Amino acid sequence: KRVAILISGGGSNMVALADSMTGDHPARPVLVLSNVAEAGGIAKAEARGIDADVVDHRPFGRDRAAFEAALNDRLAEALPDILCLAGFMRILTPAFTEAWAGRMLNIHPSLLPKYPGLHTHDRALAAGDAEAGCTVHEVTSDLDQGPILGQARVPVLPGDDADQLAARVLTAEHQLYPRVLRRFAEGNRSPLYLLEGGEAPNTSGR
Ligand code: GRF
Repeated sequence: KRVAILISGGGSNMVALADSMTGDHPARPVLVLSNVAEAGGIAKAEARGIDADVVDHRPFGRDRAAFEAALNDRLAEALPDILCLAGFMRILTPAFTEAWAGRMLNIHPSLLPKYPGLHTHDRALAAGDAEAGCTVHEVTSDLDQGPILGQARVPVLPGDDADQLAARVLTAEHQLYPRVLRRFAEGNRSPLYLLEGGEAPNTSGR
């Protein structure tokens, strides 16, 4: 399977995904695409010998369709089977998400359906949640609402601020996303639930 990874920033999830696709893994990274020219993830992709490119959204202004047409033009050169959004910070229109339906994943830094959208760690702290985490889901036209493919839980510790919680969740993201991508590439859509450091007992009987 050919995987394209979309980023907007440092690309730590992209690195975790790319570094996982080795050996007998059924997928390989074929493109890293950023909407931000100075994204740190671009150099990390190039250092790994992965084709990397930029499609800057700014020249398109409010014309999301035109930006997405440019994304699709660049993606067409790589012919990916799967898109992984990894710290990609643009909202995609229904036209784009429907064109990639069933083939596009995203990682969101909360235990969806709690806290779709932004500032998830501030919101979990403000709510006094005892745990937080991240979710990998299929991307649909409902923002952060697609079918869940995996979740990882981490504790919220006394005295945590948003940065400390974000760092703990990000570490869990790097464990979860590669495992979910491998299952997805193998055609396994059953959700994977990780607890701190390990896999939750399989309760779905599969
Ligand atoms: C992080 O906030 C992460 O929780 C979310 O996207 C942001 C950047 O991640 N998934 P990355 O380091 O660019 O993968």
